[in-house]
Amino acid sequence: MDALTLLLTRQSCPRLVDPAPNDTELKTILDAAIRVPDHGALSPFEFIIATGDGLDRLGSIFESAAREQGADDAFIAKAASMPKRAPMVVTIVAKCQEHPKVPVLEQQIAAGCAAMAMQQAAFALGLGGIWRTGDFAFDRAVHQALGLTEMDQIVGFLYLGTPAVDAPVKPGRDGMQYARYL
Ligand SMILES: Cc1cc2nc3c(=O)[nH]c(=O)nc-3n(C[C@H](O)[C@H](O)[C@H](O)COP(=O)(O)O)c2cc1C
Repeated sequence: MDALTLLLTRQSCPRLVDPAPNDTELKTILDAAIRVPDHGALSPFEFIIATGDGLDRLGSIFESAAREQGADDAFIAKAASMPKRAPMVVTIVAKCQEHPKVPVLEQQIAAGCAAMAMQQAAFALGLGGIWRTGDFAFDRAVHQALGLTEMDQIVGFLYLGTPAVDAPVKPGRDGMQYARYL
């Protein structure tokens, strides 16, 4: 797939099934992730990969967090099964530091770019993915369970797998609508 076709036709895929990205595909996806613009070359990223039993562990973390939030039983059960919506979930963490020239926001943006690059790489490989966040991305109990520090922020849970169906390609939109000349 050429680069412009990728950029102009990329879309998310919420219905994902086995197989998950294999080792070679996962390496390509992660290599693309760390190719992104990165002010100061700080590499402010960590990618926590959940597959197989790891999805159960991530589900348990969500379940505990939902319980601590005081959610009702239905949501607690839903939280436990959320990671099972794909055969692989990569938690993308912005590993931020205080820096004289690179504000934390820029480090988080770099991690967000990594999330986007990963989804694009998956798409280009014929895989599917969807970038999700939700309350759990901002929940301190989830952060602690994943071993994150106070400075860290989850920028996304990237659900990856094989598209369950051939979804129709969404029509393109006119980017000039959102632009103006100064
Ligand atoms: C930072 C971020 C967080 C998102 N969180 C969610 C989410 O929690 N749940 C969801 O359904 N979509 C979420 N989305 C949107 C989807 O990733 C996706 O972009 C959207 O469903 C539109 O599909 P498309 O990418 O094919 O245009 C998020 C997107 C971004 C950039």
